[in-house]
Amino acid sequence: MRISIIAGNWKMYKTDREAYELASFLKKSLKDVKSVKVVLCPPFTALSSVKRGIEGSDMFLGAQNMHWESEGAYTGEISASMLLSLGCQFVILGHSERRAYFGEKNQIVNLKLKAALENGLTPIVCVGERLEEREAGKTEEVVEDHITGAFEGVESEQAGKVVIAYEPVWAIGTGKTATPKQANDVHRFIREKLSALYSGEVAKNISILYGGSVKPENAKDLLSQADIDGALVGGASLKAESFEKIVRSGII
Ligand code: PGA
Repeated sequence: MRISIIAGNWKMYKTDREAYELASFLKKSLKDVKSVKVVLCPPFTALSSVKRGIEGSDMFLGAQNMHWESEGAYTGEISASMLLSLGCQFVILGHSERRAYFGEKNQIVNLKLKAALENGLTPIVCVGERLEEREAGKTEEVVEDHITGAFEGVESEQAGKVVIAYEPVWAIGTGKTATPKQANDVHRFIREKLSALYSGEVAKNISILYGGSVKPENAKDLLSQADIDGALVGGASLKAESFEKIVRSGII
């Protein structure tokens, strides 16, 4: 049984103080929620405050990116051990904004994925096609390329610890959501690929989240699909009220 994961990707929003306020508010408002794993992924600068804000709750802390080396002369970068030392348990990798604006290719995502796993962080690996790729009928090809690229050289025991987020790029921040069926079809395809790469057992245990304009209004329909195991929420995770509603939609 895969437990629902609802992760908030705060992107480059929230100062330290704002982040603390949102996190401590959510700690109170979601106190009764036990059957959903809630992960907050603030910017690096707010990780410590969010950790303080959720202290004593069942919520988890996640980062939005990391470097693959453990340390070194990499100005501006952050390593897995640094994230761990702040109490992070999750890290988002290969988000489409990283791929589009910072040149992250599969090979980089793969290095980061391996480093995260070696350090005991749970990676949330993002995959998904752009609009022109969907229109050209290439959704499965692109998603398969992202999956095989990210998992290259990852052993089956480790692969089972990864969380995947299917985020069609055309649905991110645009207000256009994939229909529950469109999303579930791709999720099923991803699970089939994982089954072929590893085994049915490994594929069955991997959580596949949907991301792209998830809102309180559409969360329930998306989350009720058989192969959708949670959501990676951007815009709607920045407000306590909408995020809380989405988390509650994941309660079974
Ligand atoms: P959105 O972002 O919910 O604002 O579309 C999702 C994401 O980028 O992870």
